[in-house]
Amino acid sequence: MQFTGSHILSINQFEQQDVEYLFKVADAMQPYAQREKRTRVLDGAILGNLFFEPSTRTRVSFGCAFNLLGGHVRETTDIKTSSISKGESLYDTARVISGYSDVIAMRHPVAGSVEEFSRASRVPVINAGDGPSEHPSQALLDLYTIRKELGIQEPVASLRIAMVGDLKHGRTVHSLSKLLCLYRNIHFTLVSPRELCMPAEIVDYLRSKGHSVVETDNMQTGLNNNDTVYLTRIQEERFSNQSEADLYRGRFRLNQEIYTAHCKPNTVIMHPLPRDSRAEANELDNDLNQHPSLAIFRQTDNGVLIRMALFALTLGVAEEVHKHVEAVSWFTAKRFRNPPPIPT
Ligand code: NCD
Repeated sequence: MQFTGSHILSINQFEQQDVEYLFKVADAMQPYAQREKRTRVLDGAILGNLFFEPSTRTRVSFGCAFNLLGGHVRETTDIKTSSISKGESLYDTARVISGYSDVIAMRHPVAGSVEEFSRASRVPVINAGDGPSEHPSQALLDLYTIRKELGIQEPVASLRIAMVGDLKHGRTVHSLSKLLCLYRNIHFTLVSPRELCMPAEIVDYLRSKGHSVVETDNMQTGLNNNDTVYLTRIQEERFSNQSEADLYRGRFRLNQEIYTAHCKPNTVIMHPLPRDSRAEANELDNDLNQHPSLAIFRQTDNGVLIRMALFALTLGVAEEVHKHVEAVSWFTAKRFRNPPPIPT
């Protein structure tokens, strides 16, 4: 794939070699994310960070990633404060904002909207989540995390992953399963209420690529014998009525006791976050916060590296980053930690 100047809209655009290259570029971003040194390779460039749906880590990490490359960020965070609330079309917004920016990251509640926007944009657009459809940068950081947590240097193969929760509306699991499809012999266990199962076209696609897929609504058997368990929140904002979402909250939970009883030791615990920590939901309990296999905050750290890599590649400076380096003069805490060694 030709990264420079391209939109990043869907995992379908990627081949295995593109992912491997992106991960190499992400690895090289570590010293900048760690504040060991700084680069000004994107000094003067502007990111249009358009978030028409709630977001904390995706929005902030796209912004920080751009800042860490020396670029500047302009943000719109709400449909109510943008002209879209006055009836402006995505086409017009795209023409305008792409005149102000060098690259755009965009999140919107409607599936396909980011792609529609990108057709009118004059600069590369990165999909930061379009409704229930896709979230490619999250899938890339998830796979990057899986590899690091499991200590795998080369492309993953024969990975066993359980995806748990709202698999119908969860764009993170849609993109991650498509991304894993690029690799060999993946075993998917899809744990959800029947009404919230993974869309049939995605399950068919996984099977058509030769992967094994087990669908179940039994959490205990679903947790057995995986390398990674990927939990998700009930996506309440996608339900037309809240009382329907209430039916599913809290149905599938992971806590210390359930983990010890049903997961293989060292199973990596992931979640795209936010986890719903309200008592009635609590799909990932705080009692696992100190567990060495809990990868959720290493996942969020890795998001910065992946998003730096995406910007460097789409703006064609991946090989230039180190030519614009300066020292860091302020106090820097060690914040990006490697996963703990896997006990043998
Ligand atoms: C996810 C999303 O927005 O799809 N969050 C994220 O980007 N890390 C998952 C979610 O909201 O449940």
